[in-house]
Amino acid sequence: MGGNCCFVHFLVAAVLAHFHGAVVGQYLNQTTHCDPADLEALLAFSKGLGTDDAGLVGWESPNDTSCCSWTGVSCDLGRVVGLDLSNKSLSGGISSSIASLDSLVAINLSRNSLRGQAPVELGRLPGLRVLDLSVNLFSGGFPASEDGFPAIELVNISFNRFDGPHPSFPAAAKLTVLDISGNTFSGGINSSTLCHAPVQVLRFSGNGFSGEVPSGLSRCKALVELSLDRNDLTGDLSSNLYTLPKLRRLRLQENQLTGSLDNALGNLSQLVQLDLSNNRFTGSIPDVFGKMRWLESVNLATNELDGELPASLSSCPLLRVISLRNNSLSGEIAIDFNLLPKLNTFDIGTNNLSGVIPPGIAVCTELRTLNLARNKLVGEIPESFKELRSLSYLSLTGNSFTILASALQVLQHLPNLTSLVLTRNFRGGETMPVHGISGFKSMQVLVLANCLLTGVIPPWLQSLGSLNVLDISWNKLNGNIPPWLGKLDNLFYIDLSNNSFSGELPMSFTQMSLISTNGSSERSPTEDLLLLIMRNSTGQGLQYNQVSSFPPSLILSNNLLVGPILSGFGHLVNLHVLDLSWNNFSGPIPYELSGMSSLEVLNLAHNDLNGSIPSSLTKLNFLSKFDVSYNNLSGDIPTGGQFSTFSDEDFAGNSALCSLWKSCHQAVQSEDEDEHHDMDTAKQITSIMLEVGFAFGLLMLWSALYFVRPWRIAYFRLVDSLLLDRPCVWTVVKVTSLGFRKENEVHP
Ligand SMILES: *[C@@H]1O[C@H](CO)[C@@H](O)[C@H](O)[C@H]1NC(C)=O
Ligand SMILES: *[C@@H]1O[C@H](CO)[C@@H](O)[C@H](O)[C@H]1NC(C)=O
Ligand SMILES: *[C@@H]1O[C@H](CO)[C@@H](O)[C@H](O)[C@H]1NC(C)=O
Ligand SMILES: *[C@@H]1O[C@H](CO)[C@@H](O)[C@H](O)[C@H]1NC(C)=O
Ligand SMILES: *[C@@H]1O[C@H](CO)[C@@H](O)[C@H](O)[C@H]1NC(C)=O
Ligand SMILES: *[C@@H]1O[C@H](CO)[C@@H](O)[C@H](O)[C@H]1NC(C)=O
Ligand SMILES: *[C@@H]1O[C@H](CO)[C@@H](O)[C@H](O)[C@H]1NC(C)=O
Ligand SMILES: *[C@@H]1O[C@H](CO)[C@@H](O)[C@H](O)[C@H]1NC(C)=O
Ligand SMILES: *[C@@H]1O[C@H](CO)[C@@H](O)[C@H](O)[C@H]1NC(C)=O
Ligand SMILES: *[C@@H]1O[C@H](CO)[C@@H](O)[C@H](O)[C@H]1NC(C)=O
Ligand SMILES: *[C@@H]1O[C@H](CO)[C@@H](O)[C@H](O)[C@H]1NC(C)=O
Ligand SMILES: *[C@@H]1O[C@H](CO)[C@@H](O)[C@H](O)[C@H]1NC(C)=O
Repeated sequence: MGGNCCFVHFLVAAVLAHFHGAVVGQYLNQTTHCDPADLEALLAFSKGLGTDDAGLVGWESPNDTSCCSWTGVSCDLGRVVGLDLSNKSLSGGISSSIASLDSLVAINLSRNSLRGQAPVELGRLPGLRVLDLSVNLFSGGFPASEDGFPAIELVNISFNRFDGPHPSFPAAAKLTVLDISGNTFSGGINSSTLCHAPVQVLRFSGNGFSGEVPSGLSRCKALVELSLDRNDLTGDLSSNLYTLPKLRRLRLQENQLTGSLDNALGNLSQLVQLDLSNNRFTGSIPDVFGKMRWLESVNLATNELDGELPASLSSCPLLRVISLRNNSLSGEIAIDFNLLPKLNTFDIGTNNLSGVIPPGIAVCTELRTLNLARNKLVGEIPESFKELRSLSYLSLTGNSFTILASALQVLQHLPNLTSLVLTRNFRGGETMPVHGISGFKSMQVLVLANCLLTGVIPPWLQSLGSLNVLDISWNKLNGNIPPWLGKLDNLFYIDLSNNSFSGELPMSFTQMSLISTNGSSERSPTEDLLLLIMRNSTGQGLQYNQVSSFPPSLILSNNLLVGPILSGFGHLVNLHVLDLSWNNFSGPIPYELSGMSSLEVLNLAHNDLNGSIPSSLTKLNFLSKFDVSYNNLSGDIPTGGQFSTFSDEDFAGNSALCSLWKSCHQAVQSEDEDEHHDMDTAKQITSIMLEVGFAFGLLMLWSALYFVRPWRIAYFRLVDSLLLDRPCVWTVVKVTSLGFRKENEVHP
């Protein structure tokens, strides 16, 4: 995003300015009335639109001969030259009467709900230079013909439902910008129909193009932007591509490109953005960035690249983003950060890099995102990190860093740090630091899992008023869970599992404000990192920049907790996951738990609970995982609702628990034949009812998945789509799969 070349704006401005003078002239020439043929065509055009188009001021009066003053209409000498009806909530389609507006120079209908075919008459407008139909619902093939669009310079039909082969404009000698992204065009890319004109921007992103990146594109010598990302392109990059002298943006990410990157890449000295991520490129990264003085962003993430980090990246003074995540790069981080004052994102997670963090990185005071996760780095967090005043996201997960206390001492000075992920480090037997830490006022996500830490929940967490997500699972922490933890206003995801916490659950956990209120309107954006844009078929996007896509959860399993399960949990209507398994909780399962109406996972297994399973729990319509195995429960297993979907294993290890398959009243079973027979009949009837219940349960499960989908997708994407190796991948697995004890084994 934000990838529009300034030059495109310049171009549009230039094209529009060309007749802007004329437009102004029209306003000066008050006596000018619009051409009667144009008036008629405009009226026919408006008839083609839906009825409710109130945005068209003036358009409803058919006697009005001053149509040049109508909304969105520009004239020159009484002829309509411009039609800008963008973002006017228009529906309907484009009438073929547009053919009569034969003086049109620019049409902008973007951001409406127009549908149907784009009429072939558009291509017959002799003077049309700008056509913007972007963000509508147009479908079918695009009507470009051999002699169509003779004067066209800019075509933007992005984000519609056009299909078929990509349009080409053989008659257009001046085509400069062609944006067809976000449609369902398919087939190969035919460069011979594109490169005859002085094309500067080819944006074919997000379609279904297949085949190779055509080497003929090298004849588009004026090309400034080539975006073929998010298609199904295969094959390797022809080295011809590296001969485009003016190329500033090369975006080929999310295809299936293979082969290695050529040294000739270095000839693209004008490059501003290079994105080859999410392909299958192999070999080493050519160390040829030395001449790319304008380079701002390099993304080669998720390929199969090996070798060392290209040191010549140090020569790109404007560089803001380096993402080389998820490759097999090795060696040390040998980049001279002194020459990268603008660096904002440095993501080298999931590689095989070794050595220490270069202290010099601290000169990059604009650094916001630093991901070093899943490498073989060692040593301490350099003292100089105090200088990284802009740092917002830091992940060190899965390295061998040491001395947590000094790391926290340093990092607490960073005023803007919102996400800190330290999982799987400091494993030499360190203790959770308790004293001398007071910063972290902006912290929203703190993950310090699987570090073998001893000690207690540190009191300095109390002052982390912005904290949303806390994961200190898989350590050896002990002591009670302090009541103030439940009072942290913004905390809605707590994972304390697999420690040695003891004592009872603090009552404050039943009053957690975010968990117990429905909806999440008040949650603030965590970071201005864009986590996700979900586009639906209309091309509109839902943006997720929020930690709030985490499911509200309380995960306290595998500890030494005792006492009752608090009936007050029933107030937590927004809680999605409650896991109290593998503790020593006792007493009954409170029937009030049915108040947790969003609950998807309820795990109470391996405790000392007694009494019966409250039938009120069948009201939990979203429950997809339920486990009460290995307790001392008795009585009948409730039927109906989601309960029909749970398996025997979820109830195992409760000797006095009755189900249809396993009777608990042994004595009853051995009574006289008649009664036994009756029982069999009863069983049959119940089992029919059960099947009905099962179908209903499936339906509910389905609807649960359906409705919960948005956050689930968001969360998955949050975990693995962007620059970051996010924490808690396994938590998603837990929520969505049944066998979750196993997943713990792959805790990050
Ligand atoms: C005003 O319009 C008339 C025709 O309607 C034309 O003859 C005249 O040249 C125009 N004046 C200007 C300043 O454009
Ligand atoms: C438009 O003209 C028709 C007849 O030519 C007339 O009946 C009608 O009232 C006029 N409408 C307006 C808004 O002037
Ligand atoms: C069309 O109008 C929109 C405003 O809704 C504007 O952003 C866009 O730049 C215009 N298109 C062209 C080609 O000028
Ligand atoms: C579209 O119009 C709405 C209001 O009608 C406005 O809020 C929005 O900013 C406009 N969008 C663009 C891109 O002009
Ligand atoms: C085409 O239109 C879309 C949506 O209006 C816009 O985001 C994009 O920048 C435009 N393409 C070009 C090349 O200007
Ligand atoms: C590309 O288009 C030209 C002109 O329409 C045509 O002659 C040629 O066969 C096409 N090439 C491919 C590979 O489709
Ligand atoms: C790249 O540039 C060098 C000279 O700087 C030239 O020798 C070489 O042929 C160019 N490579 C390509 C593929 O154009
Ligand atoms: C990492 O790359 C591999 C292939 O190289 C891919 O299968 C996997 O999905 C990628 N992981 C992430 C988190 O992007
Ligand atoms: C990382 O390096 C080790 C040797 O040091 C090698 O065995 C391993 O396969 C490498 N891993 C990757 C993902 O390249
Ligand atoms: C910290 O974040 C705030 C809000 O996002 C921003 O205005 C400020 O410039 C940042 N401070 C630094 C040092 O980057
Ligand atoms: C608990 O954490 C340890 C590492 O600290 C891990 O080895 C073990 O598998 C975890 N146990 C469970 C049940 O998750
Ligand atoms: C697409 O997303 C927009 C905005 O999120 C929404 O209003 C619209 O209903 C969605 N359209 C479809 C077809 O899902």
